[in-house]
This record gives sequence, C-alpha cells and structure tokens, in this order.
Amino acid sequence: MSGRSNALIQIAEKYPCQTYVEVGCRAGNTAVQLHKRFPLIEVILIDINDSTLRKDLLKDVRYKFYHMSSIDASNRILDNSIDLIYIDADHAYKYVLADIKAWLPKVKKGKIICGHDYSKIQHPGVVQAVDERFDADEINLITDTDYNDVYVWWVRA
Ligand SMILES: C[S@@+](CC[C@H](N)C(=O)[O-])C[C@H]1O[C@@H](n2cnc3c(N)ncnc32)[C@H](O)[C@@H]1O
Repeated sequence: MSGRSNALIQIAEKYPCQTYVEVGCRAGNTAVQLHKRFPLIEVILIDINDSTLRKDLLKDVRYKFYHMSSIDASNRILDNSIDLIYIDADHAYKYVLADIKAWLPKVKKGKIICGHDYSKIQHPGVVQAVDERFDADEINLITDTDYNDVYVWWVRA
C-alpha cells in the first residue's frame, strides 16, 4: 500500500467517512486502496486529464468521475456534504490556495480536508498555501512513508 493511502486510512479510521473526494486522482489508485479498507464509501474522483484513469473505475457504480478542473467540479458539489476531501492536483501555491478555498466549504462540520505533498523542499507551494490558510494549531501532519520529508496534511473543518 502507498504511504499516502495509508495516511488517508489513518484519517478515515479516526473520522468515519461515507463520502470521499479526491481532487487530482490520476489513475485512481489511492482511492482504490481507501475503498479496499472502507468498501461502503462513496467516491468522487476529479481530474482535468482523463487519460490516466483506470478504466475499471468507470464501470464501478461506487465511483463518480468528474473530468474537469478542480474549481469547476467544486461548483457541482453541495456545501457541507463531504466527509473527507483529499487535495492532490496542481501543487503550485496559487492553485493549492484556490483548491482549499473552493473545497473547504464542501466539508461537513467536524470532518476533514487534507492533501498530499506537504514538503518544504519538494513542494514549497503546498506548505505556503496550507500554512497561510490555516492556523498552525489546526494543521496535522502524517508522514508519507514512500518519501523523505513528505507529509499528508489534514485539518478538521
Ligand atoms: C500528483 S497527481 C495525483 C495523484 C493521485 N492523487 C494519487 O494519489 O495517485 C496530480 C493530478 O492532478 C491533476 N490536475 C492538475 N491540475 C488540476 C486541476 N486544476 N484540476 C483537476 N485536476 C488537476 C493532474 O492531471 C494529475 O493527474
């Protein structure tokens, strides 16, 4: 299992999840790992590029795929309706900040928004955006064991 999937499972074990959104899903492998542990979760996958998505997921009724930008997809999701949102799309500062702004209202109160690649060296834009948007005592980090000095960040809404 990947380090990022393991981190998401840790979060979902602590904060039970019925609806999961992955912003920037690529193949969808991280969601599949989460699904193996929690088979009843409803999954919404978003990616601006549809060429990398596993084709088996398109036939699985538990998955919904939005082939569009993160911001366009956020406009189709009701506020206060999602338990776990995982942001892993464009890692440049302005995009991460825009993704947090667009997706935070979609999280149910008390549930979780999180993201990959909180890493000062490899993805400083992610760190800058997360640190700017949230207070230090709101931000939690889980090590992604596949890399050095890379974390999954998470915040309780
Ligand atoms: C790092 S990869 C995602 C990896 C995936 N979350 C995983 O765990 O395997 C980033 C993905 O974000 C997508 N992406 C980049 N910018 C985007 C945007 N503005 N809206 C939606 N998807 C975007 C890319 O096409 C790419 O597939």
